[in-house]
Amino acid sequence: MSTASHVSGRVYLVGAGPGDPELLTLRAARLLGRADTVLHDRLVGPGVLELCRPGVELIFVGKRRAEHHMRQAEIQALMIERARAGQVVVRLKGGDPLVFGRGGEEIESLALAGIPVEVVPGITAAAGCAAQSLLPLTHRDLAQTLILATGHSQDGEPQLDWQALCRPRQTLVFYMGHAVLDRLADRLIAHGLPPDLEACLIINGTLPTARRITGTLATLPGLVREAEPLDGPALLVVGAVVGRARGPA
Ligand SMILES: C[S@@+](CC[C@H](N)C(=O)[O-])C[C@H]1O[C@@H](n2cnc3c(N)ncnc32)[C@H](O)[C@@H]1O
Repeated sequence: MSTASHVSGRVYLVGAGPGDPELLTLRAARLLGRADTVLHDRLVGPGVLELCRPGVELIFVGKRRAEHHMRQAEIQALMIERARAGQVVVRLKGGDPLVFGRGGEEIESLALAGIPVEVVPGITAAAGCAAQSLLPLTHRDLAQTLILATGHSQDGEPQLDWQALCRPRQTLVFYMGHAVLDRLADRLIAHGLPPDLEACLIINGTLPTARRITGTLATLPGLVREAEPLDGPALLVVGAVVGRARGPA
């Protein structure tokens, strides 16, 4: 998307992929080599930032759960200020900017300010983790529907459409579900998914430190508790396809 404007600067919302720099798009790599300012998240791996040109201004804008280095409004104001000064600004986000990445809010604020904005897609965590685990997210015999959901909530109680999530022959991928894994598993079982349905937690997917813990809806929370402390982003995958994973991690 781009908007007409009198300003000479421009903002690119760029997906950095799930961690492994090799998974960056060519367009993302090219823009990193051109940008004047790069605002990046915690989930963007150091190997990705090495592609920035010398002299670039790198600004870390957060964020870890409940630990925001810069508020969303401040990030947006900074992008607008830099673009108005004529800069090429890259807002670099883990995964894809439009999947649980607040890309929509940023597009709206930039458009309102008359700043030209473009989005460069990235490989979302679900695709990156599934690829590394050789885990088919859909499968002719097992899952005709794929749902990407968030476990994030303000008060620890995810507000989700449990009935829709608990239909048969689906794969569910929960972003930000690690902290509420017990609750997610409880709710899914209470709403009708079988306790012995396969489920796994993939931590640091696509990185050398990747790890996959596999169990069922009933057993996974206990297996994960035993494996703690687990450091890094984690994705919960639920569905019969989990049993088909053939990858090492
Ligand atoms: C705020 S969301 C951002 C999602 C991102 N925009 C995407 O498309 O992947 C952050 C969540 O993505 C998931 N995630 C991101 N990178 C991951 C990785 N390398 N391995 C496992 N999960 C990851 C985790 O659930 C993490 O809590």
